[in-house]
Amino acid sequence: MDINILAIESSCDETSAAVMQNGVILSNIIATQKVHEKYGGVVPELASRAHQQQIVPVVDRALVEAGIKKEELSAVAHTQGPGLLGALLVGSSFAKSLCLGLNIPLISVNHMQAHILAHFIDDPKPTFPMLCLTVSGGHTQLVRVDESLEMRIVGETKDDAVGEAFDKAAKLLGLNYPGGPLIDKHAKEGDPDKFQFAETSMPDLDYSFSGIKTSILYFLQKEMRKNENFIKENMNDLCASIQKSLISMLMEKLIKAAKKEDINEIAIAGGVSANSGLRQALMTEGDKQGWNVYIPKFEYCTDNAAMIAMAGHFKYLKNDFALLSSAPMPRMPF
Ligand code: KG4
Ligand code: ZN
Repeated sequence: MDINILAIESSCDETSAAVMQNGVILSNIIATQKVHEKYGGVVPELASRAHQQQIVPVVDRALVEAGIKKEELSAVAHTQGPGLLGALLVGSSFAKSLCLGLNIPLISVNHMQAHILAHFIDDPKPTFPMLCLTVSGGHTQLVRVDESLEMRIVGETKDDAVGEAFDKAAKLLGLNYPGGPLIDKHAKEGDPDKFQFAETSMPDLDYSFSGIKTSILYFLQKEMRKNENFIKENMNDLCASIQKSLISMLMEKLIKAAKKEDINEIAIAGGVSANSGLRQALMTEGDKQGWNVYIPKFEYCTDNAAMIAMAGHFKYLKNDFALLSSAPMPRMPF
């Protein structure tokens, strides 16, 4: 019998549905919510409403594209957390109703674990133990993975996530939300050594990104007092220099963690893993350190339901099902 899993992701500002058959992705539909752009960040209430509007057409399209009928589904997987409560509620209520109507099991997935498991969708797949640097808008974590569902955080940010640092720096430069991809774009044309910012180093394998944001703010205020066109005239060099600092902070602890945990299967995951500078830094360091590096396809970097389906598939194989009474968990522990 085929294992057909429908997966639903609705933790933040992407409504996504995917269908996986026996561990192979058949469809992965992602509807990005544009409504937040003009507010400079995700507005939770607007996110919930947009999920409500998009969830039915997105799920329909995922099933049609996969050529799978609802009646052929083995289970429905959904993101239980972490994420925005109202946004999570839309996906989880929809998943539960489908399970009830079709009399099939529900699978609850941790969004951060799913980002890591996206590496098991396509070949080549990492072998265990692996180390993953998960970098998104809400999290920055170094995770040791010993088995598909056995993971442990060995280091993480104590304040802002690195995606947040990218987005806040972009805002200071007058760029739109989300600013990470825009910094990446400008950085390609800039000189990364033009400006220096104070990089905070935390003990052990932890991170802190709030200090560098303040350092960028003070630097820009000082320069703008001297020349009000400073940002405009130096946009590419500023973006390249900011990006270089953030990446160097990320890489320092990744190298330290790989040595400490004695692991050479190294991956990156989450929205910021789409960053071209980080991808390049990982490849260069991988050659130097003798690592096998795993970099996700762009489609699997930012939020998507394919990764929820992959986690769902592993849980299905272990009969790890959820109760229909289970609730979304905005601060779901790892
Ligand atoms: O994983 P994700 O889609 O959502 C969360 O779970 O947070 O990550 C979104 C974050 C945003 O902060 C966005 O600016 C950042 O990923 N991001 C990037 C790039 N693409 C997305 N940051 C730097 N460079 C990029 N190319
Ligand atoms: Zn995410």
